[in-house]
Amino acid sequence: MGNSWKNRITDLLECDYPIILGPMRLITLGSMAACISNAGGFGVIGASGLSREKLVEEIKLARSLTDKPVGVNIPVYRSNAQDAVEVSIDMGIKTLYTSAGDPAKFIDKIKSAGLKVIHKVSNLSMARKAQAAGVDAVVAMGFEAGGHIGREGITTFCLIPVLAQSLKIPVIASGGIGDGNGLLAALALGAEGVEIGTRFVATNECPVPPFFKESLCAAELNSTVVLGKEAMPIRVLKNKIVEQAAGIGEAKTDQVMVQQGNADALYVGEGGNKHTAVMPCGQVAGLISNVSTVSDVLSEMINGTKSALDRINRMTSGGKL
Ligand SMILES: Cc1cc2nc3c(=O)[nH]c(=O)nc-3n(C[C@H](O)[C@H](O)[C@H](O)COP(=O)(O)O)c2cc1C
Repeated sequence: MGNSWKNRITDLLECDYPIILGPMRLITLGSMAACISNAGGFGVIGASGLSREKLVEEIKLARSLTDKPVGVNIPVYRSNAQDAVEVSIDMGIKTLYTSAGDPAKFIDKIKSAGLKVIHKVSNLSMARKAQAAGVDAVVAMGFEAGGHIGREGITTFCLIPVLAQSLKIPVIASGGIGDGNGLLAALALGAEGVEIGTRFVATNECPVPPFFKESLCAAELNSTVVLGKEAMPIRVLKNKIVEQAAGIGEAKTDQVMVQQGNADALYVGEGGNKHTAVMPCGQVAGLISNVSTVSDVLSEMINGTKSALDRINRMTSGGKL
């Protein structure tokens, strides 16, 4: 893959490349987090849905698989958030990744224990609030991303430059990035790192059922839909259950999915099949056609960034594309 990169995000997260594993409830646990960190990125364990004991177990598992740092994602609104903060501090995690709520709730506790914090946002006012609360970086998530997204429909391409110009802290771009071209575009827009969710689902190492990876590889740009638009919007792959819930084809409403309890119960991390499971997924699925290893995804991104840059350099110096 060549030389590691260096900027504020690689310094903050102590990784070779500013590529972060997007936390995925009950999917990105110890083994997946260790895998990304071993490949030079920054792995994240999702604490959502884990008991205290299970989180301890997953952090221990990650430590047994890598010497590199991994982070823990804590959705602030979940009932286990306080526990997850305490466990992470006790177990010597260096960086917490908060989302879905106000990071100010835990910032004093986290900072006084000497940890760094990154926080997920989807608009400028959330980003300013997070910066004022004292977070070290924001993950800025555009509307094309997989999973829970912002209510305002702001895309990655427009969100990143505004945040990069308006904030002092570094910005990590999330949503719609699946290869070296996307990584280079994010850097060109002013991001200093990227968060990748959907592309890492289509890897050998990702512990989701094969039907999820197959559906994702078969997906086109228009294969996702946003459910729960009024409450907690979530971008998912279209399938039978989702089409019913969204009222596509049959006249039902997406009220079925609005309640978090329902979305959780049908979530692919809990079981189901390709017709009955809710599979969060980004529009970037339309770019993905193969399942490969995490390390191949990472090296294609790093090498792809360099070849995209060469291509642009040739063009801007008068050469042909
Ligand atoms: C299957 C799946 C589950 C997800 N679960 C969570 C979650 O539990 N918490 C969270 O903060 N983000 C979650 N996300 C969002 C990702 O962390 C990440 O922000 C997003 O996937 C980035 O966009 P991309 O899919 O275009 O790469 C999920 C995404 C997917 C695809």
